[in-house]
Amino acid sequence: MDRPKILATHRLFEGPRAKLAEHFDVEYWSDSHRPTRTEVLRRVADKDGLICLLTEKIDDELLAAAPRLRTVANVAVGFDNIDLDACTRRNVAASNTPGVLDETTADFAWTLLMAVARRLIEGDALARSGEWKGWNLDQLCGADIWGKTLGILGFGRIGRAVARRASGFGMRIIYNDAIRAPVEVESELTVEYQERDAVLREADFLSLHVPLLPATRGLIGPRELALMKPTAFLINTSRGPVVQEAALVAALERRQIAGAALDVYEREPQIGHGLLRPNVVLAPHLASASLETRTRMAMMAVENTIAFFEGRQPPNILNPNVWKK
Ligand code: DGY
Repeated sequence: MDRPKILATHRLFEGPRAKLAEHFDVEYWSDSHRPTRTEVLRRVADKDGLICLLTEKIDDELLAAAPRLRTVANVAVGFDNIDLDACTRRNVAASNTPGVLDETTADFAWTLLMAVARRLIEGDALARSGEWKGWNLDQLCGADIWGKTLGILGFGRIGRAVARRASGFGMRIIYNDAIRAPVEVESELTVEYQERDAVLREADFLSLHVPLLPATRGLIGPRELALMKPTAFLINTSRGPVVQEAALVAALERRQIAGAALDVYEREPQIGHGLLRPNVVLAPHLASASLETRTRMAMMAVENTIAFFEGRQPPNILNPNVWKK
């Protein structure tokens, strides 16, 4: 019997590649730049399965171009690039990679938080510039982190992992989520549930961990930024469109908040010019980018694909209705 044909829109890592080779005939996209849409549409046309990144839009057009396609495995936890209804309509099982990147992403939210609060990027530039004239009392003074209030919007696995790290800094931790966490979780992590506006008003550091949904698109806009303290910092490792970028730029210009540290952008990979300022730390969507975690994510997508073709429900299926059909 012919082995299923898979398109992987990335060369993945060695372990996941070896595993795939045991089961499938795989075509890889191996260039270092991402494939164009036309390229993806062309290559997926005769495939039974697709392993893709969040840069690929999985919509009706793509599904129509791939009549044999039965499964799409996203190498990401966020799946706002996938039209799940379209997949379900066409009986295509979609899956993602939850869980494996929580701690790494939380580490990076803290990396950003600390970098912006303590002006690390400006300090690094000065240290390299040859212009540093030595220690000075008021040089690049940032803001304390310890003892401050950390506000978290979105209290799922990643939000909680961020909260766990705050205890070493003796912080007060407040959060808001559409669903309040169980009391045991609140007491274990010493966090307080607050209304969203109260979190915005009281946080010295506001870290975003909501998925991108119609309800969270543009969640942080002019009104929300106006509620924040002028000394507060905004940290975003969730999805760019959760923050209205133009409103953020305006708030930074008016000094309505003290700064921002961003890993994601409204129109990736474009970064609005107004964000290029010293009190903004910018990263190119790196939060889960440790070699260990990215390898685990790729392996998980491979395992979801193998499960599907072995007749088992993919462990991280997003549209289980397809399976039950
Ligand atoms: C995801 O998985 O959704 C991230 O944005 C990339 O790790």
